[in-house]
Amino acid sequence: MLLGAQWGDEGKGKATDLLGGSVDYVVRYQGGNNAGHTVVVGDQKYALHLLPSGILSPGCTPVIGNGVVVDPSVLLSELSGLNERGVDTSKLLLSGNAHIITPYNVTVDKVTERFLGKRKIGTTGRGIGPTYADKINRVGIRVQDLYDESILTQKVEAALDVKNQILTKLYNRRAIAVDQVVEELLDYADKLAPYVADTVLVINQALEEDKVVLFEGGQGTLLDIDHGTYPFVTSSNPTAGGACTGAGVGPTKISRVIGILKAYTTRVGAGPFPTELFDEDGEALRRIGGERGVTTGRDRRCGWFDAVIARYATRVNGLTDFFLTKLDVLTGWEQIPVCVAYEIDGKRVEELPYSQTDFHHAKPVYEMLPGWSEDISKAKSFSDLPKNAQSYVKALEEMSGAPISAIGVGPGRDETIQINSFL
Ligand code: GDP
Ligand code: IMO
Ligand code: MG
Repeated sequence: MLLGAQWGDEGKGKATDLLGGSVDYVVRYQGGNNAGHTVVVGDQKYALHLLPSGILSPGCTPVIGNGVVVDPSVLLSELSGLNERGVDTSKLLLSGNAHIITPYNVTVDKVTERFLGKRKIGTTGRGIGPTYADKINRVGIRVQDLYDESILTQKVEAALDVKNQILTKLYNRRAIAVDQVVEELLDYADKLAPYVADTVLVINQALEEDKVVLFEGGQGTLLDIDHGTYPFVTSSNPTAGGACTGAGVGPTKISRVIGILKAYTTRVGAGPFPTELFDEDGEALRRIGGERGVTTGRDRRCGWFDAVIARYATRVNGLTDFFLTKLDVLTGWEQIPVCVAYEIDGKRVEELPYSQTDFHHAKPVYEMLPGWSEDISKAKSFSDLPKNAQSYVKALEEMSGAPISAIGVGPGRDETIQINSFL
């Protein structure tokens, strides 16, 4: 399993793609098209939102699990975009139990954010939260509902009954017509039909046959609805447990849990971020790291590496390995600050505080590590790295609580130093 150890955008897409050549299945288990995963293959760059990054590896079967929320129009346009570029997408499997992001979920996401004003979460506006809310409220629409018009109509009616009251009376918006929604959804039915499958059965049978299955998380640990910086989180479980419910596999089946960890920290949207920089160092990280959102095009907030968060990610996910990404971006700093603990109300705190108030007050305690100026993008092994870069990696490993098994030194597939095998 592979997941984000920070606030998303750690480089999960690249890591998944790298492993794609040696695995049989890549499964997305949560989130939706709020994700933006970049994969660079040769001179080709792909931005994937809903499709598992394994789709670019010909031998690999990509699976969208039951825990994902699916916007059919986005899925179909992502598929046709890849087809136009010569990528074969015919192996895709889509869970019949995955929930559908309907047009009214997108509307509710946008109006809710507007209503929250300065208290807004800064969502991607893709309808993610409202769709998961409908799922939990038991008024959601699932992929399988597209194949029974009468049930679909009843379910859309039930969902819109309350929503139209809220939209018209509270938000002063126009009511959404049931027929129009049903018609639009039915239009997707035939187009999606070739992909719909009992993915839980398929994945478990594959595991019984000793096939290699990789679960690819969207977002990251600190955006987890249970373990993240609530309420500034996404509405699903990107953490390791989410893969079990979101794909229908037992925890005994998971052998490795790889945390993707950026050599510094970024975050998109609102919420606390202790090591955030507002100076020219932050600007430089953003510029050199190309830290602009793949989904919304927003500038990412940037800051130094936070070992407290990395330790926390190790714990809540039971990480067996880290994949450290974007080490190349740190080239050129004379000294690199790393947050080793927080100071909260005058006290030194070594672990992530569970209280939101404390976390909002957390100030980073920095240790300075010596930097390097040599270009590292061509490094193929750990010993190719300058001594100070090696020490930086070793220091992060020591602080973070799991071995760093691979290091990214550039966006391309082969710009990776593999230290331990992941398989
Ligand atoms: P994801 O959401 O976790 O898949 O990450 P994103 O794709 O949103 O953001 C990561 C960005 O960093 C993308 O532009 C990647 O191409 C790029 N990237 C990934 N690994 C590396 C690396 O090791 N070095 C550099 N310079 N860029 C990387
Ligand atoms: P990947 O998979 C970074 C953030 C949004 C917002 C919060 C809630 O590319 O790492 P949502 O639309 O999910 O309800 O928004 O979560 N967010 C992400 N930030 N990377 C992502 O995905 C994100 N997906 C959601 O910016 O703060
Ligand atoms: Mg991303």
